[in-house]
Amino acid sequence: MNFKPEEDFTEAARPEPLFSKWFDQAERAEANDANAMSLATVDASGMPNVRIVLLKGVDQRGFVFYGNAESAKGKELLANPKAALCLHWKSLRRQIRVRGIVEQVSAAEADAYYASRPLGSRIGAWASQQSRPLESREVLKQAVAHFEKEFQGLNPARPRYWVGFRVIPLEIEFWADRPFRLHDRIQFSRENLDAPWTKARLYP
Ligand SMILES: Cc1cc2nc3c(=O)[nH]c(=O)nc-3n(C[C@H](O)[C@H](O)[C@H](O)COP(=O)(O)O)c2cc1C
Repeated sequence: MNFKPEEDFTEAARPEPLFSKWFDQAERAEANDANAMSLATVDASGMPNVRIVLLKGVDQRGFVFYGNAESAKGKELLANPKAALCLHWKSLRRQIRVRGIVEQVSAAEADAYYASRPLGSRIGAWASQQSRPLESREVLKQAVAHFEKEFQGLNPARPRYWVGFRVIPLEIEFWADRPFRLHDRIQFSRENLDAPWTKARLYP
């Protein structure tokens, strides 16, 4: 891999190409789950909540992940469609932080991604009432068996509650490790989706 940790990224004019470059390098460098990211939301009482989700799509519009709309994160995002993401690549000693507004991906986009998943995962989406109390592992196994039977020989359709969320960035910060904790930080921000990015270097 031709990655040079000391390579200067701070001249980047726009965040999107830099994100693609770092993500590509992370996919080659990380042992697993280079696309794992912390997703922070806020609940109805104002209390923050955070968990890992997998980045499943990234383009000019934003960062897409999938999950259950009736889960804690789903409810939080539907009530307050704002989120923060954080990717940390230990092998590269780099971090990317994102803050933005959240929209659901189109049904067609979610259908296409759902259809690309292994059958076991598609069944799992039907069997799991994500984030609700589960009496025992046995109850989950029974739910899986129930849906395996129901969908035998069929292509399970996407459950209506299994959705994709897109975080549309208003702020993206790139952080890279430097000696003596004098790290590089470059923050791109914009007032709204139509505004141009402005760029600032931050103290480490
Ligand atoms: C590596 C990793 C990847 C995960 N990917 C997802 C994901 O893509 N979507 C998802 O809903 N949960 C994912 N999870 C599980 C979440 O962290 C979390 O347990 C689940 O979404 C329920 O969170 P909530 O109760 O806050 O909604 C992942 C967990 C780990 C550790």
